[in-house]
Amino acid sequence: MNVKPLARPQAVASSTERTVTILGATGSIGASTVDLLKRERARFRVVALSARRNATALARLARELDARYAVIADPNAYRELKDALAGSGIEAAAGEDAVIEAAERPADWVMAAISGSVGLKPTLAAIERGATVALANKECLVCAGALFMRRAAATGATILPVDSEHNAIFQALGAGRREDVRRIILTASGGPFLKWSREAIAAATPQQALQHPNWSMGPKVTVDSATLMNKGLELIEAHHLFALKSQEIDVLVHPQSVVHGLVEFRDGSVVAQLGAPDMRIPIAHCLAWPQRIAGPSPRLDLARIATLTFEQADLVRFPALALARSALEAGGAAPTILNAADEVAVAEFIAGRIGFPAIASLVEATLAAAAQRGLMAEPASVEAALGVDHVARSLALDLLPEIAAKAS
Ligand SMILES: NC(=O)c1ccc[n+]([C@@H]2O[C@H](COP(=O)([O-])OP(=O)(O)OC[C@H]3O[C@@H](n4cnc5c(N)ncnc54)[C@H](OP(=O)(O)O)[C@@H]3O)[C@@H](O)[C@H]2O)c1
Repeated sequence: MNVKPLARPQAVASSTERTVTILGATGSIGASTVDLLKRERARFRVVALSARRNATALARLARELDARYAVIADPNAYRELKDALAGSGIEAAAGEDAVIEAAERPADWVMAAISGSVGLKPTLAAIERGATVALANKECLVCAGALFMRRAAATGATILPVDSEHNAIFQALGAGRREDVRRIILTASGGPFLKWSREAIAAATPQQALQHPNWSMGPKVTVDSATLMNKGLELIEAHHLFALKSQEIDVLVHPQSVVHGLVEFRDGSVVAQLGAPDMRIPIAHCLAWPQRIAGPSPRLDLARIATLTFEQADLVRFPALALARSALEAGGAAPTILNAADEVAVAEFIAGRIGFPAIASLVEATLAAAAQRGLMAEPASVEAALGVDHVARSLALDLLPEIAAKAS
């Protein structure tokens, strides 16, 4: 097994102030990060915050956290941001390059929580300057994982996994030597349709898919949890983070979302991380790592929960998981194409233009069309990955009418 250390431990003295930047500050992960920072004001100083177009919320957060720099990706929202920050002394900027510049400004720790492949360039900018990057944006590893891990190794950047399952694995891996790991298990809640029949799932509405039973998250990742594509993307993420092969990464459906990840060592010991389903737990772990800070999340009451259950994922009702595993095993550009097609499909589903089963169908058809056109070579740079992403999106949009018609 080719297992390598995930990160270089860096000592953080409790008296030392840590400077932090949040990319995607106005989102769900951003809000959890902000909540923790507000409780630990003496330990952290905020350098930069970014958002896409929610200028009012961004300006409020920048004022509350006393940030130095606030950046909005959409230039049309610049005036609103500038006005909202008037008199605060906080520098404002707009545009995609300004988001990258926010990541480049010296901060010890960067939360990468922009949603989607648009997060690749700013996250890579933080990695290139050797920062500690708390990685929520799984698309970085799905679309260009080998490149991100290579650049982190070259620059000395530390990547800390924010996704609760990967954070759990990261913590559990501390119990033994990497070469003694037999396999890891990522748990999946199963989403809102876990007990639904295939027919009922076929008629699921966006509103139903956006109701996650355990986690409160942004819309894209919530729909991905309903299709189990999220778990598929996490397989790919785990492959890169922990240098594990597909057959060394298992998935188990665990509807209570209490056990987040497990590591099986070769002596038969299985070490797990447990916690309430609250993203502030893995984020707090990343914020203070390698130390710990007091967290506001509810304490785990196992006696009250009483029963923890586990089952295999049903790949017939949830074909997206099998598609993602195939993309991981195919390698090359397949995961990048999978991700791009899924972003298109989920947006179309949320907009009410395609049905729920069409999400997986569109991803499958896009992968097939890309393979036919010989687009499967591994992207060697972020620009190449974004080029593949772009082509895959237009392929998916071209295939959309056919897929929508088939499904109706
Ligand atoms: N939410 C979770 O519990 C969770 C768990 C594990 C992993 N993740 C991953 O973490 C990432 C963020 O998820 P989320 O649920 O926090 O998403 P979200 O709630 O949709 O928030 C996305 C954030 O990114 C910003 N953003 C979106 N498009 C942008 C662009 N083009 N340029 C710059 N900023 C942009 C948004 O700004 P505006 O508010 O202005 O739109 C917002 O601040 C995703 O990759 C997701 O898969 C999330």
